[in-house]
This record gives sequence, C-alpha cells and structure tokens, in this order.
Amino acid sequence: MIYRLVYVSKTDHDMSTQEISEILNTARRNNTRDQLSGLLIYFDRKFLQVIEGPMAQLEQRFAKIENDLRHSRVRVMAKGKSPERIFPSWKMGYTDPEELSAERRASVFELDKLAGERRFEMGENERVQMLVKNFLIGVRVNTRERCG
Ligand SMILES: Cc1cc2nc3c(=O)[nH]c(=O)nc-3n(C[C@H](O)[C@H](O)[C@H](O)COP(=O)(O)O)c2cc1C
Repeated sequence: MIYRLVYVSKTDHDMSTQEISEILNTARRNNTRDQLSGLLIYFDRKFLQVIEGPMAQLEQRFAKIENDLRHSRVRVMAKGKSPERIFPSWKMGYTDPEELSAERRASVFELDKLAGERRFEMGENERVQMLVKNFLIGVRVNTRERCG
C-alpha cells in the first residue's frame, strides 16, 4: 500500500520557468531518496500537486511543502491509501494544463474553483472526490503514453 495526497495552492506572482525549475530540482532530488513520486501542474498562479509514496515520508515532506513560502492557501483535496502508484517513474512530473486532455483540464480548473470556496472541507464534497478520481484516471493514461 502507498499513500497519495492531492492539493491545490496559490502563488502571489506569476512563477518564472526558473522558479518552477528550482522547485522541481529539489523535489526530484528529495523524492528519489524518499521513494516519493507524483505530478505538479502550474497554471494561473496556482499549483495542483499529486504526491504519493510511503506514508511517513509523504507526511514529513508534505509538512514542509505546506509551509513553503512560495505558495499559500494549500488545500488538500484528497488523501488516502492506494494499492499502486499512478506515477511510478516520475519523481515529480510536470505539466501545463494545456497538455492535458480537455476533460482532465476541466477537472483541474473545477478542483481549483472548489478549493477556493470558503466553506470547502476535504471529503465533504462528493463532487471533489469524483473530480480527483476522473483527473487521476486520465492522467494515468497520459503517463503510460508519455513517460519514458
Ligand atoms: C508547489 C511546490 C511543490 C513542491 N514539491 C516538492 C516535492 O515533491 N518534494 C520535495 O522534496 N520538495 C517539494 N517542494 C519543496 C519543499 O517545499 C521544500 O522546500 C523542500 O522539500 C525542502 O527541502 P530540504 O529538506 O532539502 O530543505 C515543493 C515546493 C512547492 C512550492
């Protein structure tokens, strides 16, 4: 069993390619060591990240990510156990929503919209669970196709 967490967060300025690269370099270095894998998406001053791996490592890392001053309003949209990884070979993949299928892209945008709602709480919202599930199923297909 592995654990998986999906969150959405905000940045206070448009992140440059350089800034995103710095995050990815650190992430890939640490995640290789900690057996974590996942996917990061950046759009419109927002991040959506899926991170998965052993529970202890994931919780420890997420505690750091959550407090990282490069983003704020970190909202966990889903977390839980899973029998297998969705991104086994991505220490931290990165994509632009434009590269996702229209359906996946729509799920990402709607998740972000729901995360922005004041009274949002994880797990309460069936719509959120469905969007996360649909998004991950679609991404898995792309991953198999694109990941070398
Ligand atoms: C959007 C975002 C995603 C991040 N993802 C990861 C990640 O997957 N793995 C990681 O180690 N650090 C990630 N970081 C960086 C962490 O917040 C933190 O700076 C880093 O883990 C600290 O590394 P250190 O323990 O080597 O000091 C992320 C930061 C941001 C802003």
